[in-house]
Amino acid sequence: MRIDIITCLPRLLDSFFAHSILKRAQDAGHVQVLVHDLRDYSLNKQRQIDDYAFGGGAGMVMTIEPIARCIRQLQAERTYDAVLYMTPDGERFEQKIANRLSLFENLIILCGHYKGVDERVREQFITREISIGDYVLSGGELAACVVSDAIIRLLPGVLNDETSALTDSFQDDLLAPPVYTRPADFEGMKVPEILLSGHEAKIDEWRFEQSLARTRARRPDLLSD
Ligand code: ADE
Repeated sequence: MRIDIITCLPRLLDSFFAHSILKRAQDAGHVQVLVHDLRDYSLNKQRQIDDYAFGGGAGMVMTIEPIARCIRQLQAERTYDAVLYMTPDGERFEQKIANRLSLFENLIILCGHYKGVDERVREQFITREISIGDYVLSGGELAACVVSDAIIRLLPGVLNDETSALTDSFQDDLLAPPVYTRPADFEGMKVPEILLSGHEAKIDEWRFEQSLARTRARRPDLLSD
């Protein structure tokens, strides 16, 4: 899979993709993440990428030309399955969307800033608008990291058996069950006996019940769907 991220703050993303599972996924060739500095596509010497809003009002608006140049250049080189725009007024991101996006070959993610992008960018180039929650961040970069992380960990080969994404919370509309490791007894707080029993079927059953109880208590909305 290839993910092209378009941003005016490329350095902000570099460190995120240079560590842990995301770095290993790239090193092993499961994913290529390319970060594009929107200012490189600006048409003027000041490398400007924003301008005042027509009609007045506070805040700058990201201009269409640099974004159009960048997206068109990428699209001339390969076919993209989706062009995402990170914005608080987009569709709420959830596991099912991550699952679907993880099947794609090539993805562009545009990070918004300031008051957002010129509406014509959305009309002309964007195929899906995504919000990571009902709060406003200072830019779409963190949202792009969240979405990329959720996708990349689903790619075949990225996680091993022990960290398999299949047992993640939300993957079956249930929250994950509690987990324990050594010591089996910490200051009198004991690990549930069943987990030490070696009885696989019973352990699976216990985990399912715990998942169900936890989901009922914390996220009943997941069960009503
Ligand atoms: N940009 C600013 N806030 C955002 C949010 N909540 N989700 C996605 N992109 C954003």
